[in-house]
Amino acid sequence: MATFSRTTFNSSLYRSFRPVYSKTTYDLIYEYHKQKGGKFNVALDIGTGTGQVATVLAETFAKVHATDLSEKMLQAADKRPNISYSACPAEKLPFEDKSVDVITTAQAFHWFKHDQFFEEAKRVLKPNGTIAIIGYEYARIRESKQASSLIRKIGLETFGDYWDSGRKILENLYRDIPIPYPNTTYYFSPGDADITNIGNPTPETIMEKVMTLEAFKNYMHTWSSYANYMKEHSEDPVDSMMNEIAKLLNADNLEKHLVTVEWPAVLILTTPQ
Ligand SMILES: C[S@@+](CC[C@H](N)C(=O)[O-])C[C@H]1O[C@@H](n2cnc3c(N)ncnc32)[C@H](O)[C@@H]1O
Repeated sequence: MATFSRTTFNSSLYRSFRPVYSKTTYDLIYEYHKQKGGKFNVALDIGTGTGQVATVLAETFAKVHATDLSEKMLQAADKRPNISYSACPAEKLPFEDKSVDVITTAQAFHWFKHDQFFEEAKRVLKPNGTIAIIGYEYARIRESKQASSLIRKIGLETFGDYWDSGRKILENLYRDIPIPYPNTTYYFSPGDADITNIGNPTPETIMEKVMTLEAFKNYMHTWSSYANYMKEHSEDPVDSMMNEIAKLLNADNLEKHLVTVEWPAVLILTTPQ
């Protein structure tokens, strides 16, 4: 997966404007792991990006390994004394057999070679260890179905050809990737990826955030497809989309107008056997 590895990719923007996962998400992961008698010594976050998940794991686990293919993302990652970052593929991990309690991977699983990833994950996990996989789809603005449709449209149509291959799998929130272990648990929130059930957060809401429209615009600029598109075009389609959204919401100042952004998301919890 090339875009995030490119030296020109704006990893600092990514660190500042990508949303983070809810406390509920971590509670669900920890509860699942605890119920199997799991320990909280070593966690491994794969495809860590700029450390969105690793920094939260570092509050609970004694030691966190965080890995990514992209040196550029790791350079911008949040540093913590108990996190060690390393550049390596998900399919070949530089860790000992049976050395990790919990593996997480957020918004990255769709880029992996799944069979090889599961083989490696099984090898490095301690017996009965946990794999937690998170993915999310195009954002929605809870206050407006029309605005949400515009966001989905820009992702599917304007940027459709500018996603690296693999991203399509996310549109069905990983339902099409078989998880090779029984006892796999899925949480979908706030529901399906289309906009029919917008504004119905579930108790297991994985990701939502109140933000200004300006911050939302900055978030849109962290999309890898946006970076790819802008290499070939001079006009920014996110700007025109934001103007339309501002009109729909009667917002005259993007920096002041607050909206609730929700991401249809999935959390998969499983145990290699
Ligand atoms: C969208 S970012 C997600 C970052 C962060 N986990 C988050 O939740 O925001 C996807 C990351 O996966 C990394 N990645 C893609 N393919 C990978 C692979 N095969 N092995 C390890 N990392 C990979 C990319 O370099 C990128 O940093």
